[in-house]
Amino acid sequence: MLVVSVLSLKGGVGKTSVVLGLAGAAVARGLSVVVVDMDPQGNATSVLRARRARATLADAMAQPDAATVDAALTKTGWSEGAATVRLLPSDADLVRFDAWAPGRRLRPRLRRALAHLDGVDLVLIDCPPSLGALTREALAAANLAVVVTTPSFFGAQGAERALTEIQEIKDTVNPGLEFAGIVVNRLRESTEEHRYRKRELIELYGAQALLKPAIPDRVAVQQAESTGQPLHAVKSSGARELSKSFDKMLGRLLKKARKAGAEPAS
Ligand SMILES: Nc1ncnc2c1ncn2[C@@H]1O[C@H](COP(=O)(O)OP(=O)(O)OP(=O)(O)O)[C@@H](O)[C@H]1O
Ligand SMILES: [Mg+2]
Repeated sequence: MLVVSVLSLKGGVGKTSVVLGLAGAAVARGLSVVVVDMDPQGNATSVLRARRARATLADAMAQPDAATVDAALTKTGWSEGAATVRLLPSDADLVRFDAWAPGRRLRPRLRRALAHLDGVDLVLIDCPPSLGALTREALAAANLAVVVTTPSFFGAQGAERALTEIQEIKDTVNPGLEFAGIVVNRLRESTEEHRYRKRELIELYGAQALLKPAIPDRVAVQQAESTGQPLHAVKSSGARELSKSFDKMLGRLLKKARKAGAEPAS
């Protein structure tokens, strides 16, 4: 089972959109997916419009045993043949797991919870916009970490902090964690400022550090989210362009996972 955490320190850069884009691409490829909504805002949970669960991710974190994980795992309407996207839904209660003090020892509760998942190829974790305990829990449970940024001055700063955090978790609780790359989201190639910020990221981190392709800024993202559909189901040229981008990105992630020795189950 491949576990990918999608994070950024900065809010609103597109973590949830990238998780949903990758989930849509994965189910279209026939993979069985679980989205873990680690954000107390619950944006992924509302887009996926899952049936009301008997339990939530907060319950599974409080009690990471097989019965509680099973009760929290809910079906969504996203499926392609036998492949489905299921959800470990967020609720406001998750906040109580976000408290963090330097020097505190992380008890990887999410990792323990995810160990009970069965028949799942890919787990995508949507992190909250902070580097509190929830994001650390997500990193402690992952094989791959994806950092999302936008082509902006603050975006580059946020990426730096996220990279430091990934290294720290790798050095302490999760030696198997690999940095998969930085996603440049909402790119408008026609804008000089955006081209400049993308070049700046390459100068700072090297071309290899960017997870290709960059994701263009298209209203289809909002159309898909507001109607609760995967991008692959939205009929517009923007949606097709985005779907192709996420298909390629997923392909690259699976390749990196193979290299890192963490493959999806099928
Ligand atoms: N590639 C894109 N093109 C157009 N709009 C986008 C794109 N990516 C994200 N958005 C829009 O930007 C807004 C923020 O995106 P999203 O919620 O995915 O960010 P986030 O990083 O998860 O935010 P938060 O930090 O609050 O969790 C949303 O309205 C989303 O529809
Ligand atoms: Mg989000």
